Amino acid sequence: MNPRLRILRDAVVHNTRILLERSGVSRMVAVVKDDAYGVGVSWWLRVLPVEQVAWYAVATPDEISPLRTLGVPPDRILLLYPFYDHGLFREIGKEGVHVALGSREMFDLVTADPEVIPPERIHVSLDLDMVRTGFGWEEWSECVSRWPWDRPPRAWMGHFAHTPEDGSPFEETVRKAHVYHERLRSFWHQEVPAHLANTAVALGGISLPQRWIRPGIGLFGVHPVRKEPDPLRFALRLEAPLVQVHDVPAGTGVSYGHRFVTSRPGRIGVLRIGYGDGLPRALSGKGWAIFRGFQAPLVGAITMDLTLVDLTHLPFVPNPGEWALLLGEPPAMDLWTWAEAAGTIPYEALTHLSVRIQREIVEADQPTTSQRIPPATSPAPRSSSKMPR
Ligand SMILES: Cc1ncc(COP(=O)(O)O)c(C=O)c1O
Repeated sequence: MNPRLRILRDAVVHNTRILLERSGVSRMVAVVKDDAYGVGVSWWLRVLPVEQVAWYAVATPDEISPLRTLGVPPDRILLLYPFYDHGLFREIGKEGVHVALGSREMFDLVTADPEVIPPERIHVSLDLDMVRTGFGWEEWSECVSRWPWDRPPRAWMGHFAHTPEDGSPFEETVRKAHVYHERLRSFWHQEVPAHLANTAVALGGISLPQRWIRPGIGLFGVHPVRKEPDPLRFALRLEAPLVQVHDVPAGTGVSYGHRFVTSRPGRIGVLRIGYGDGLPRALSGKGWAIFRGFQAPLVGAITMDLTLVDLTHLPFVPNPGEWALLLGEPPAMDLWTWAEAAGTIPYEALTHLSVRIQREIVEADQPTTSQRIPPATSPAPRSSSKMPR
């Protein structure tokens, strides 16, 4: 039995609505790079509300073909970062994918053969304040004087280094976005539509000259900055099966190195999840699992496939085969708690979820297994605690 990741369709629909409403636009560029942030793009595409997606954005050329296999038309795919391979350029051009054009070298490649990728499939990427990908304004001004077509690009895009919570540096970037937008409009004598806002900016309800937003993490219901209250709903539940239960005497050391030793006679459960599945080893001795609404602390070193939980204080004995909730909404660990305890951020924690975790879609927002069962009020004898299936 492998751990399972449940994806809650209702929550994704809710998050999409909140992000769009807050930013006053009706469609988005859904960022699905890195296998949809590690969640699994083939699953993710089935829950994203297709009518609200103008493009699916990927980071690398090899992320295009999984989308094509899933039936996404090429002109709904946007490749976000520069690439310089001539063969690839022709291939992508022939296929009909949209590309972000954001460097001088890529400009030279694309304009040397202006038939291959027409401007209708070009999103000019301008660096707003990150010095990451995208033209600086000087570089762009020099390139645009060599624009070989008589039509403008399909769109322009920028990305924010700051969140609205950062105050003046963020406001400075917003001003810059307005200035760039006006300059592009006056150059082409018409509006060049833009996609600018990531999740943090979209949630901030900031007035920006954009037709689309470009969120990623918010669609999963995660705020990029830890904050309460959060209008989003976490759309994921990570559960692991209990594979064994041991009754142990006081003074028993568990897992590698015996980093945890029982202080009294107790009960240790073994979960089929480990760092090989993406449960950070740094959560050893810090995290917890939920059984029927009750917390059971993770104890001892997390190993590649297995993690131990202290079941001693539970008022019942969970059965092998029963599912424990590791990531979800409180009382489970939320993604911020999980990530911070592991010394990282939700983005990295998500992208580390391994392919061996089974994925499934939960159609309606039904309670998860561990919440559905009312908490037991008194300890149940081991043999009689049956898990409804
Ligand atoms: C270019 C670009 N646009 C949009 C996003 C989405 O950002 P977020 O996941 O914070 O919404 C990312 C995230 O990495 C990105 O790199």
